[in-house]
Amino acid sequence: MLLGVNIDHIATLREARKINDPDPLEAVFIAKRAGADQITLHLREDRRHIHDDDVLRIRNSSVLPLNIECSINPEILEFILKISPHRITLVPENRQEVTTEGGLDVVANFERIAEITRTFREHCIEVSLFIDTQIDQICASKEVGAQMVELHTGTYANLHLMLNSNLSYTHNTIESLKIPRSELKTHFLDSISSLRDGAKEAKWLGLEVAAGHGLNYHNLAPILQIPEIIELNIGQSIIARSIFTGLESAIKEMVKLIKPSERNAFRLD
Ligand code: PXP
Repeated sequence: MLLGVNIDHIATLREARKINDPDPLEAVFIAKRAGADQITLHLREDRRHIHDDDVLRIRNSSVLPLNIECSINPEILEFILKISPHRITLVPENRQEVTTEGGLDVVANFERIAEITRTFREHCIEVSLFIDTQIDQICASKEVGAQMVELHTGTYANLHLMLNSNLSYTHNTIESLKIPRSELKTHFLDSISSLRDGAKEAKWLGLEVAAGHGLNYHNLAPILQIPEIIELNIGQSIIARSIFTGLESAIKEMVKLIKPSERNAFRLD
């Protein structure tokens, strides 16, 4: 299993003061040292965390492959094409959202996504699509020519949180999950089945399969048991833990969880 570390929230912290500290570029070197396989970041249209300059500096560092998440906005895509990262992941974007809500609608934007995919692949840049697990979205992802899909684990993660924490008793209750507690377990199990089925279908079609969103140190186990998933992109939980333990340690802990071989190596030490 490969780990892409999403470093957006290092920039979120920087933007709280609009200065140049902490610098997301420093995180790239730490992630490499800690055993991460890839840096993932989201260049949003509103540049609310990562800026163009961050992308340029991180790309130039060349320490780890760079996976840039972005919307299908032409201005952003033109910039990223020039940067030439190893992969783009197309995501839906909505200015009001706190984080990426729901997967990309590949069916509704078929022609546009096919054109973007063609252009990026012609420039030897891999294309991944961040989608929900519906079969029509998976099939459309294959038909537009993407090499990879990243399955949206947000619903799964939210349900895990509601079942295993006291979140529903705080002011941060997740609105979309205001369902009777007795039904949460069923929805949770359904969300795992749909990720499992989606991953199987995507692999069968010849797509590589990644997953991400809301994954943390407590909810990974069922996802790790889906053999078709080869990569996880994880951000918020790692950056949150790093506040208390340091970034290198937070990434190493995640690496230990998701890579059995590293776990064995750790035991032997
Ligand atoms: N993958 C994609 C496509 C995302 O949009 C995000 C959030 O930016 C992540 C993974 C990481 O999600 P989280 O920060 O919840 O781990």
